[in-house]
Amino acid sequence: MKEKLHIVKQHYKVDRKARNEMKKHSSFLVWFTGLSGSGKSTLANAVEQKLYEQGLHTYILDGDNIRSGLNQDLDFSEASRRENIRRIGEVANLMVDAGVVTLSAFISPFKRERDLVKSLVGEDSYIEVFVDCPVEECEKRDVKGLYKKARAGEIKNFTGISSPFEKPEAPQITIPTAEVSIEEGVSKIVELVQNKLKAI
Ligand code: ADX
Repeated sequence: MKEKLHIVKQHYKVDRKARNEMKKHSSFLVWFTGLSGSGKSTLANAVEQKLYEQGLHTYILDGDNIRSGLNQDLDFSEASRRENIRRIGEVANLMVDAGVVTLSAFISPFKRERDLVKSLVGEDSYIEVFVDCPVEECEKRDVKGLYKKARAGEIKNFTGISSPFEKPEAPQITIPTAEVSIEEGVSKIVELVQNKLKAI
C-alpha cells in the first residue's frame, strides 16, 4: 500500500481571480483531441495567433514537445498514455490557475483521461475540441511519415492503426478537417473562445 503523505494544501492571496483581473480576461483550457495528423497542432497554432493578436495571454501544450521534456520517461503503452495525459492535465490546471488561456494538442485517445482533465480544471473552464479526421485521410497526409512506419511494424501501438482512439461523445465543437478549411475551423474555435471569455 502507498505510504500516507501528510500534505496540507496552501492557499495564496494572489489567486486565479486576481490574476484574471490583472490580465483583464478569464482563463480556461481549450483541449484539442484527435488522431496524429488530424490537424490539432495546426489549428491550435492558428487559434493561438488570433488570440495573441487580440491581446490575450496564451500558451500551447503540445504532445511532441512535452514528450521530449517533462514526459520523456513515457512511451506509447496504454498506461504511459494515461499517465501522459494525467500529468498534462495537472500542468494545464496550473496554467489556467496562472491566468493563461491554455491550448493543448494531444491525441488523448482515452475518454477516462479526458474526463479526468475536465474534472481537474472544472467543467466551466474546459472546452473540448474534437479534431475529427478519418484515419485513412491522416494516413494519406502522413506529414511525419509515422503511419508508413506503423504499417511497416516499425512503430508499435500506433493510434488508429494498432492502438485505439475513443471518439469524444460530447465535445463542445467538432472540426472535420477533411471537409472544412483551416480558416473555417479556426474561426469557429475562436468564436467559441470569445463566447467563453464573455461567460466566465
Ligand atoms: S497521447 O496518445 O499520449 O495523447 P501524444 O499526443 O502525447 O499522444 O503524442 C502523439 C505524438 O507522438 C504524435 O503526433 C506522433 O508524432 C508521435 N508518436 C510516436 N509514436 C506514436 C504512437 N505509437 N502513436 C501515436 N503517436 C505517436
